[in-house]
Order: sequence, then C-alpha cells, then structure tokens
Amino acid sequence: MMIKQEKAAVIGHPISQSLSPLIHNHWMEQKGIDGCYEAHDVPVGGLEAFIEKAKAAGLSGFNVTVPHKTDILPFMDKVAPLARQMGAVNTVRIEADGTLTGFNTDGIGLITHLRNTVPGWPRDLPALILGAGGAARAAVLGLLNESLPVLMITNRTREKAEIIAKEVGRGRLTVVDWEDRHGAVAASGLVINTTTLGMVGQPELELDLALATRDTVIYDIVYKPLETGLLKAARQRSLRTVDGLGMLVHQGAAAFKVWFGHDVGFDEALRKKLETMI
Ligand code: ATR
Repeated sequence: MMIKQEKAAVIGHPISQSLSPLIHNHWMEQKGIDGCYEAHDVPVGGLEAFIEKAKAAGLSGFNVTVPHKTDILPFMDKVAPLARQMGAVNTVRIEADGTLTGFNTDGIGLITHLRNTVPGWPRDLPALILGAGGAARAAVLGLLNESLPVLMITNRTREKAEIIAKEVGRGRLTVVDWEDRHGAVAASGLVINTTTLGMVGQPELELDLALATRDTVIYDIVYKPLETGLLKAARQRSLRTVDGLGMLVHQGAAAFKVWFGHDVGFDEALRKKLETMI
C-alpha cells in the first residue's frame, strides 16, 4: 500500500524570509507525519499556474501571503464566512476532487495567542486597535467574536478605519482620531498595534502609555524585532505585553488543522527555533 506523503506550501512574493516552512515542518516532525511544507515564490499574475501545479502535485493546501491574499479570492470554489468578511484568504484547502476552499485564520491566530498569554485580560474595558490594514480587520473580527463590548480603532488615514467600522464593526467599533490615540489608551483594557510602525526599518510607533491602567495589556503584532519600542516601553511600566510571534504561529496552527486534522501549538522548542531566525 502506498502511504500518501502530506504536502502543503506557502506562496507570496517575496517569500524567502517566510518562517512558515520552519513552523509547519516542526509540527510534521512532531506529529510523525511523512510530509513537507515548502515556500514558493509566486509573482503577481502567477496564481492560476501555481494552483494547477499544486493540484497536480497532490498538495493538501497552501498558505497565502502578500501580495495574493485578496487576488486569490476569485479562484476559490468556496469561501468560509470569516475569509469573506476579511475580503482576504490566508489558507486554502484542496479537496481530493480539486475543489478549493478559502479560509482566513489570522484573527483566530491573534486571539488564540492573546488567550494563551494573558488569559485574564480586562474584557470589560474597550480594546484599542491601531492601524486599518488587513491585520487590523483580523483583530476587529477576532475581538468581536470574543464578545468584547466595545472596540476603538485609530489610523493615520481615518477613512480606512471608517471603512472597517462600517463593513465589519457591527455598531461596536468607534473611530478615534490618530492624534487622540494617547488619550484613548487611558480607557482601554487592551491596546493592539497592527501598523507596520516598530518593524525593522520602520519608525517606532509613538504612543504615550502614561495614562494606561495597571491592568492594560499591550499587544504588538510586529515580530521583527521581537521586542519593539512599544513593548519595551510597556515593560518599563510593568504592563503585561504580548509579542507578534504567537499570532504567526497560531494562524499556522489553524491552517495545519484545516489540512491535516491535527491540533498543534506553540511549544518552547518551536519558540527557540524561531527566535534564532529573527
Ligand atoms: P497589513 O495589511 O499587513 O495590516 P497594511 O495594509 O500595509 O498592512 O497597513 C499598514 C498600516 O500601518 C496602516 O494602518 C498604515 O496607516 P495608513 O492607513 O494611514 O497608511 C499604518 N502605517 C504605516 N506607516 C505609518 C506611519 N508612518 N504612521 C502611521 N501609520 C502608519
């Protein structure tokens, strides 16, 4: 009897820096799965060719990253509700008959990491989301599904935050002016940076934490570097912090479950391996 080798991949452009192969191959090894997960550089316009190749090679599915998360939508036969609301797909499952289903596991990744790291975060206070890109949308949807009473969103370009509030805010998302973000921290139980500020090569996010309550949790989804200026400032004030690596790992874990049915997590060995790569 032939034993099927399990295969999956991540596609993007550029893709060489992706940590996903390390993460998924760690889980395959851990679960004793005979398989491999590879990164493929797929340029704009290359999706159709890649999908044909993936089907022919018997992949169980693949992850999708920049710049394809939205462009992949028309190729899907089915789209899960969260991915539909996100307007973006980060995980594709290929059925045996070639049918493609699109999922988005970014919001689940963000929330799972938050729950695991700070189980008692103050849920009765609003959460403040900084930024209005795809990651902000994932944070909003993830938090609304957690039944948080109110959320606030602030973005340099206010109109983009207003679009998120209108499209997925369910009347529970208030837009705050970017200039007023410091004051909004005072009212928040959770502050999430989803902007690119603080990333290697980018300016630091300027956010005054002086008014934060003692219980406020500061979450930065940036993971390059692991300790951003924002997290450093929060730690200096003895606030609880959450770094971005866990979101990456847990969105991957949700994808792994979609393809292979196994529950996997963020163990110490995986964190150590990843930290050496950052
Ligand atoms: P993703 O989809 O990965 O979340 P993105 O769509 O590139 O990322 O969004 C980047 C976010 O960082 C945006 O909210 C952007 O603000 P604008 O919408 O005003 O562009 C924010 N951002 C990037 N550079 C910034 C800067 N110098 N000051 C303030 N916000 C910035």
